[in-house]
Amino acid sequence: MKKVQITETVLRDANQSLVATRLPLDKFTDILSAMDKAGYYSVECWGGATFDSCLRFLNEDPWERLRTIKKAMPNTKLQMLLRGQNLLGYKHYPDDVVRKFVQKSVENGIDIIRIFDALNDVRNIRVAVEATVAAGAHASGTICYTNSPVHSLENYVALAKEMKEIGVSSICIKDMAGIMGPQEAYDLVKALKENMDLPVVVHTHSTAGLAFMTYLKAVEAGADVIDTATSCFSGGTSQPSTEALVYALRQLGYEVNVDDAILQKVNAHFTPIRNEFLADGTLDPLMMGTDTACLNYQVPGGMLSNLVSQLKTLGAMDKYEAVLAEVPAVRKDLGYPPLVTPMSQMVGVQATQNVLMGERYKNIGKEVRAYVHGDYGKAPGELDTDLVKKVLGDEKPITHRPADDLPDEFEKVKAELGDLCESDEDVLSYIAFPQVAEKFLAARKEKKQNTVTYKIERID
Ligand code: CO
Repeated sequence: MKKVQITETVLRDANQSLVATRLPLDKFTDILSAMDKAGYYSVECWGGATFDSCLRFLNEDPWERLRTIKKAMPNTKLQMLLRGQNLLGYKHYPDDVVRKFVQKSVENGIDIIRIFDALNDVRNIRVAVEATVAAGAHASGTICYTNSPVHSLENYVALAKEMKEIGVSSICIKDMAGIMGPQEAYDLVKALKENMDLPVVVHTHSTAGLAFMTYLKAVEAGADVIDTATSCFSGGTSQPSTEALVYALRQLGYEVNVDDAILQKVNAHFTPIRNEFLADGTLDPLMMGTDTACLNYQVPGGMLSNLVSQLKTLGAMDKYEAVLAEVPAVRKDLGYPPLVTPMSQMVGVQATQNVLMGERYKNIGKEVRAYVHGDYGKAPGELDTDLVKKVLGDEKPITHRPADDLPDEFEKVKAELGDLCESDEDVLSYIAFPQVAEKFLAARKEKKQNTVTYKIERID
């Protein structure tokens, strides 16, 4: 019997996709020891937006969160999402910072690091992959899935092979936009399975209503692991339901070794939390519905809602259709990047500018300029030559790996921060998100000093 394994996403992607990563640690510590016995392949619990959200909104030390989860779940593989050389932020970091971040993530409890680059430029994930392997953890090489005239099964397979060469232990197909249909999933998983001997993990979102079908066909083609969310945190912009998929897969004859009673317990734990989020407006019920607009336009659902709010603010909703038509045109000019952060924002803003200015590329954003210069890595396809000329003039774009230009900085920053940081983890928090981390660390320091004074006063 073919075995299928489950990655539970409630702590990271479901949390991020439905409630903007606002789930505090103390809402789920009590269920972790039960989750530890569920039989998941892994629990995705860290990375992505969780790190920033802990510091910015939840007044939590993300490293402490990870250690707490690890302590309660010693038998389950903990998984995080990492954007290669960008780590959890939006820019390229120097190699020493990337290595240190990966090493500390593993030391604090991470077992599997899912590593991707927005452009699928393998040079941008190499250092993170090597550091993961060096730390004794599992590096999952990740393909950002998208459709375009320059993306094909052949080049996805070639990409996976390149990732295998740098040391990944599995390949993940990451359909962040939820636009991968069942046939596409079947063909891609099959092509990967026929051409290499690594486990294949499939990640999608229910946004467009395809996810259940996509997973069933992916599994039929040989996928080993699928990402799902406990049912009360499933559907819509999140992953499809863990319990429903386990039920259906078993009926279809697959072996799924999870404990149903525990899955029910997990869902029972998170249901009142979901209800609180609904009641206080953190969770918009619309996020849990099905929206097929992203299929018609081939743009991620999150990008469409961003465009709408941007145009509403500008009082230019009458330009919505024109902007939507401009999005694929800008994407083509930029060599068909996958529409994932930061490319989705870049393409969306530029398309809006092109329409509102009444002239294409009259205004070119700073990020688009940097992208054209090669600062984000290699585009999947050719860039429009007129656009390149307009941005660079006679200058040539860089062809080397962007982070090659960045000198090491960890020790320097550590020395500068002095006693604001108590650990290398604190230094990494600061490097990743300087303003928010500084605020968090300063508040923590002050709190500790007050505690000490209090204790001294109590000696009597
Ligand atoms: Co996702």
